[in-house]
Amino acid sequence: MKEIILIIAAYLIGSIPTSVWVSKRFFGIDIRDYGSGNAGATNTYRVLGSKWGTFVMIIDMLKGVVATSLYIFFPEYLNNELHRTNLMIGLGLAAVLGHIFPIWANFKGGKGVATLFGMALAIQPIVAVSCVGVFLLVLYLTRFVSLSSILAGIAFMVFILFIFNEKETLYRIFAVIVALMIVLTHQKNITRIIKGTESKVPILKHRDK
Ligand code: G3P
Repeated sequence: MKEIILIIAAYLIGSIPTSVWVSKRFFGIDIRDYGSGNAGATNTYRVLGSKWGTFVMIIDMLKGVVATSLYIFFPEYLNNELHRTNLMIGLGLAAVLGHIFPIWANFKGGKGVATLFGMALAIQPIVAVSCVGVFLLVLYLTRFVSLSSILAGIAFMVFILFIFNEKETLYRIFAVIVALMIVLTHQKNITRIIKGTESKVPILKHRDK
């Protein structure tokens, strides 16, 4: 029973629609009506500027960290790594689902990247930080945040399955879920990249010849 209450709490934390609330409260608009229409840090950066984009990214990431860390309310799990990991994955995924389908914003949320990152940071910090390296490299080379997110998500799976060769089945399933979720939430971006209509971030702009 306690587990179910905490899973619901994790979902509610993930549901906090940071970008929607920021855009409505400080700019009188709904971020979902502008730019890519996504309720996430990238679109906030695109529409409202770097300061608010960074703010949304940090809060959305913290939602993942905090929700995943709710396991500390189970002292009985602290010494059982398998149970703890099991619970952390459940809590983290509930928060990511909350971010994608937020109860506080008509179930129309973001793509879950920052929240997934926060969750990964709480569960597998070394792999999560390695994925930031992949993200930044792809961003530098292409300037597509979406492609950087997708490849970082796939890299997360590859790191867990093949580089760190994680033996725990639960971790392996989790890694596949992360990659799948990121690809699924970025379907429109993938279509735009193929069509050549995906927007690029001005930061790290290559010098035009
Ligand atoms: O975090 C979402 C990002 O990968 C893409 O966002 O607004 O370009 O669809 P956006």
